[in-house]
Amino acid sequence: MKTIAVINGPNLNRLGKREPEVYGDETLADLENRLAKTFAEKEAKLLFFQSNSEGALIDKISELAENGCDGIVINPAAFTHTIIALFDAIAGSDIPTVEVHISNIYKREKFRHRSMTAPACNGIISGLGLHGYEAAVR
Ligand code: DQA
Repeated sequence: MKTIAVINGPNLNRLGKREPEVYGDETLADLENRLAKTFAEKEAKLLFFQSNSEGALIDKISELAENGCDGIVINPAAFTHTIIALFDAIAGSDIPTVEVHISNIYKREKFRHRSMTAPACNGIISGLGLHGYEAAVR
């Protein structure tokens, strides 16, 4: 059985309420429940983690690297564009990682066009809405 961590960064705890015209009206709990159900049938164990804090996200990736994990799906949210320490955490983890963005970051403000974390990832999915998480876990 594979274990995949699904990690969400700042403000994604407010999914469903926050800018629904951009991020949709499904909550984070809805998303996590749906993913857990979908992948239980495929015999994958998903671990969910969300934090608004950069340090907590880095600590989680470090813990996964120490304890072993088959894959990480991460939406670093706004930290994508600013936090080099997250790049280092992913790059140093040796865990295959896919970066997900609900919106198409390349179609939005210029400051969202650069991802600090994507070069440490195996792939990036942006703009497929919440379907992107499911594709990334697959
Ligand atoms: C986001 C895109 C980021 O630019 C933004 O700061 C987010 C969410 C997305 O999922 O589309 O919080 O990562």
